[in-house]
Amino acid sequence: MGDRQRDALERLWPVYGVPVTEEVLDPVAIFGRSLPLVLEIGSGMGDATADMAAADPDRGYLAVDVHTPGIANLLALTEARGLTNVRVVLGDALDVVRHQLAPGSLDAVHVFFPDPWPKARHHKRRLIQPRHLELLRSRLVPGGTLHCATDSADYAEAMLETLRADPELTNVHDGYAPRPAYRPLTKFEERGVLAGRDVFDLIFTRGS
Ligand SMILES: C[S@@+](CC[C@H](N)C(=O)[O-])C[C@H]1O[C@@H](n2cnc3c(N)ncnc32)[C@H](O)[C@@H]1O
Repeated sequence: MGDRQRDALERLWPVYGVPVTEEVLDPVAIFGRSLPLVLEIGSGMGDATADMAAADPDRGYLAVDVHTPGIANLLALTEARGLTNVRVVLGDALDVVRHQLAPGSLDAVHVFFPDPWPKARHHKRRLIQPRHLELLRSRLVPGGTLHCATDSADYAEAMLETLRADPELTNVHDGYAPRPAYRPLTKFEERGVLAGRDVFDLIFTRGS
């Protein structure tokens, strides 16, 4: 980590950081007010998270990543941009979802460019797969949105199959979605686009 990130972590974690525990989070306690919640899994360097939160001040953005420099960067961006609707968690998103988020508590779940794990023997490490999907979907409010994006054609196909197979999820589009205006290009995506890779968005809602 650079000095800026080290400083951000030290100074800003107490302000915007949410510890990993086994207790269900009270959104009002963490944001200081009642807001519909957006969970972002794997926020990376956090630039896209900060942009989305700035454009959407009436929802609370809870960004989770295991990568300390990325979390530190998002803390710095949150302060620099004066965002009051961002909180960050440094930890495994599935643990956070399982223990700290109540069923029916999320307005949206964003999974942007999750690690693709391209080798078949590593597919079991992928975030979007049937055994995790039921958990993620259960945390959405009725009508809530699960939005995934990837630049791995193979992962996109597997995601589409998995999401379509869930009887409680409805595809908002027919197949892949065009990138909605609210999703900025992410850092990781920029590299893929430069390398000539296609990007696939998938937007599903939980039935009411
Ligand atoms: C390929 S990067 C994409 C980051 C960002 N969304 C972007 O598009 O620039 C995937 C991110 O997911 C994070 N990640 C992987 N497994 C995770 C987990 N179990 N919980 C939270 N974050 C995770 C990684 O640390 C990494 O920052």
